[in-house]
Amino acid sequence: MARSVRLVPALTAVQLALALTACGSGVHGTPGGSGVLDPYFPKAGNGGYDVGHYALRLAYDPDAHHLTGTATLTARATKDLSAFNLDLRGLEVGEVTVGGVTARWNRAGQELTVRPRDDIERDETFRVTVRYSGVPEAVTDPDGSEEGWLRTTDGVLALGEPTGSMTWFPGNHHPSDKAAYDLTVTVPRGLRAVSNGELLSERTAGDRTVARWHTTEPMASYLATLAIGDFDISRSRTGDGLPVYTAVDPAETEASRPVLARIPEVLRWAERRFGPYPFSSSGAIVDRAADVGYALETQTRPVFPGAPDLTLLVHELAHQWYGDSVTPESWRDMWLNEGFATYAEWLWEEDHGGPSAQETFDGLYSGDAFDTEEAGEAIWEFPPAQPPDAARVSAPPVYGRGAMVLQKVRQAVGDERFWRILRGWADEYRHGNADTADFTAYVEEQAPGTDFEEIWEEWLYGEGKPERP
Ligand code: TRP
Ligand code: ZN
Repeated sequence: MARSVRLVPALTAVQLALALTACGSGVHGTPGGSGVLDPYFPKAGNGGYDVGHYALRLAYDPDAHHLTGTATLTARATKDLSAFNLDLRGLEVGEVTVGGVTARWNRAGQELTVRPRDDIERDETFRVTVRYSGVPEAVTDPDGSEEGWLRTTDGVLALGEPTGSMTWFPGNHHPSDKAAYDLTVTVPRGLRAVSNGELLSERTAGDRTVARWHTTEPMASYLATLAIGDFDISRSRTGDGLPVYTAVDPAETEASRPVLARIPEVLRWAERRFGPYPFSSSGAIVDRAADVGYALETQTRPVFPGAPDLTLLVHELAHQWYGDSVTPESWRDMWLNEGFATYAEWLWEEDHGGPSAQETFDGLYSGDAFDTEEAGEAIWEFPPAQPPDAARVSAPPVYGRGAMVLQKVRQAVGDERFWRILRGWADEYRHGNADTADFTAYVEEQAPGTDFEEIWEEWLYGEGKPERP
């Protein structure tokens, strides 16, 4: 890979100063680092610690667009630390404490560097609290799409793939660090605050409503969401007793009702194909933010920009297994999300009287599936496991050609073994992280004696359109 030579200081001046003064206690910690070396988003996430829990107390005033927050992170140090970073974009920090003791802090771009009074020892669990406030921003991604804190006509919608969640809370904003969450959100009376997981309580007193949301299973921060506004709420259960909570923009209620009513049916089908549903609740949020035309697989409760069609519902619910429960190790591994969710659409069709996955594959290969020649060509632009840059981590090859990789595996191992691989993959890395090498190793292990070399080389990593379908 061609790389231009750039002079990047290993440590920022602030980090260097902190490192040099970090000799007060017996522990000689060093700064944790400002990123986790993600190949596409190098500043996302931070080194030196692992967050186990986020407690976010938020209050939002939609008229002033003003957010007040207190974030308490419980984390474990993975090395001796004199300082560590959090990612936070915009907003004003009022105070930072570590273990209840005021800490020094400094900001540079999205990096909030925290210098606790005492060093933190490796393996120590520590609690950092950040008080902050301000008017959160929207973010324009390298691919031009909008995410972050997005205004709607009656409130706000927070979307975080890949880096938007740092606009509303400080954290380790990289998919490799998953954590449990508790959100307490105060909004003006008359509005609702809807997030991931389960609603523990919702109380109105005076002119305010306070909602408490809890997410037990580990969640990557890009899958966190918060929708504030006027919603039609519906609460029900699947036949298995799984709670289903949907929040729909009243303008979309009627159009959404028939398809959202099929959530239990889609989940039942997906459990048969992919194994047990990985979370404690389900549902959906239908809300319209300006300039957002995409859906997002926010954990337990995917967000749709309008009434979804059935295929989109299948796609976002399939992500609960592939993406949300089994989460990519880095942004390079996006095809493990989008290739699987696209394949789930093909499978749904196959299982419901539509074309077989092989027929769908053939249509993509021949180009017949596309309206234009350009669209047909776009999936061959780069190999799914190696997007050329951050602007293309969600480009067509990651979806269509990613799904084609799975069909190639199916061709190689046969249906029975392929079903075992789909379920086994979700089970093996349940609530964890995985990368492409984990995937190829897993498939090889499940099918000893089958040679996958050509599939990986041509379909996963190879440039251009493979010669044989
Ligand atoms: N994950 C979304 C979906 O397929 C699409 C998406 C939105 C996306 N923003 C992204 C994918 C950023 C990768 C990166 O439903
Ligand atoms: Zn997707």
